[in-house]
Amino acid sequence: MTTPAAVRVAPATTSRLARLVTDVRGVVDRGLPPDLTAYLVGEQLAPHLGASDLLTEEQYEGDPDRYRQHLLHAERDGSFSIVALVWLPGQQTAIHDHVAWCVTGVHQGEEHERRFRLVSDGAVARLVATEDVVNGPGDVCGFAPPGDIHRVWNGGSGKAVSLHIYGADISRLGSSVRRVYDLRTDES
Ligand SMILES: [Fe+2]
Repeated sequence: MTTPAAVRVAPATTSRLARLVTDVRGVVDRGLPPDLTAYLVGEQLAPHLGASDLLTEEQYEGDPDRYRQHLLHAERDGSFSIVALVWLPGQQTAIHDHVAWCVTGVHQGEEHERRFRLVSDGAVARLVATEDVVNGPGDVCGFAPPGDIHRVWNGGSGKAVSLHIYGADISRLGSSVRRVYDLRTDES
């Protein structure tokens, strides 16, 4: 017997994650501006980071070839999604920005981030690094486009796990990335 394509199979989750979903829904349903929504969602996420009963065993599994995304929740109306990202040492994203507001929280390990600004002289565009950030367990960041260009990597020596909450339907889009930037940077 096959599963009809229209049926979305919900991922297995923990009761702690179910509480987080309820709390995030309470914020998102207020319909506030994206940057304020991200800030308030971050407040809901922070107390759960590092809790041993937040994720299932499978949701800690990485991929030797690239950082791995586990979809934890996609809200039925498409208003938000929650994923766990698992990073083995050295794994990183391309330089990218996002389709919607985003909140990140480190659950385990260290997530390094370099932020960029897009500059142009009218003919040639390039990226200028503006800030380097290292986030450890319990650290939360929230942001909303525009001006959200960055690269993220695991700069630690062990596995890193972070939760990302997006104001978009990741189960439909596949990822939160709006654009990948393959431009010259001022990195050495
Ligand atoms: Fe990102």
